[in-house]
Amino acid sequence: MITLRKITFVKSSPDVSDCPVSELPEYAFIGRSNVGKSSLINMICNQKIAKTSSTPGKTQLINHFMVNDEWYLVDLPGYGFAKINRQVKATLEPMIAKYILERPTLVCLFLLIDIRLEPQKRDLDFFHFLGKNGIPFHIIFTKSDKLTIAKVDASVESYKKELAEIWETFPTYTITSSEKKIGKEVILGWINAYNKLPVNTQK
Ligand code: GTP
Ligand code: MG
Repeated sequence: MITLRKITFVKSSPDVSDCPVSELPEYAFIGRSNVGKSSLINMICNQKIAKTSSTPGKTQLINHFMVNDEWYLVDLPGYGFAKINRQVKATLEPMIAKYILERPTLVCLFLLIDIRLEPQKRDLDFFHFLGKNGIPFHIIFTKSDKLTIAKVDASVESYKKELAEIWETFPTYTITSSEKKIGKEVILGWINAYNKLPVNTQK
């Protein structure tokens, strides 16, 4: 497994055009507000480097964290939480889409899904957006500590069933809990494999 020797906060950017100028590969975490993106980054980094909150809408900028001077983890704002101020929502969602479509060094996205919830329309819409635009992604189910193993399995199955109607194969996924520190090895394994490939900066 990769050892995270050095982790530094680089910058918070309001737009993809403000993101660090770099050719290093990056991996971004996306999902509905409050799904646990920032908490997962902290779990992976083994430190409270990203800001978290029980109130949705905490992360409102594109946050770059550099690991081992070699690659970035990116904490993105969440999408689709009804309680977030409408004006904030109207600027955040295009900002996220623009980052995903235009950032040349984004290698893959991790799409976080709260394992406790039935498939949500907003998440399914997001799957389609990624598929339509050919964005590579893995699914990360979060908050598995809140459910029994049987319920975790049932929830994954309901997503598989829902997506099978449109997608031939279910994306690669893993089940995590930031609370119980479950899932770090799988995520770092994915990143490690991508890091061995050349970065495609032709976007
Ligand atoms: P935004 O920045 O608002 O988009 O949210 P986020 O996706 O970054 O969520 P964040 O990491 O701030 O976590 C939201 C809430 O969920 C916090 O109260 C966390 O403590 C809680 N949480 C996150 N991950 C887990 C988990 O694995 N288990 C449990 N039980 N709670 C979690
Ligand atoms: Mg956050």
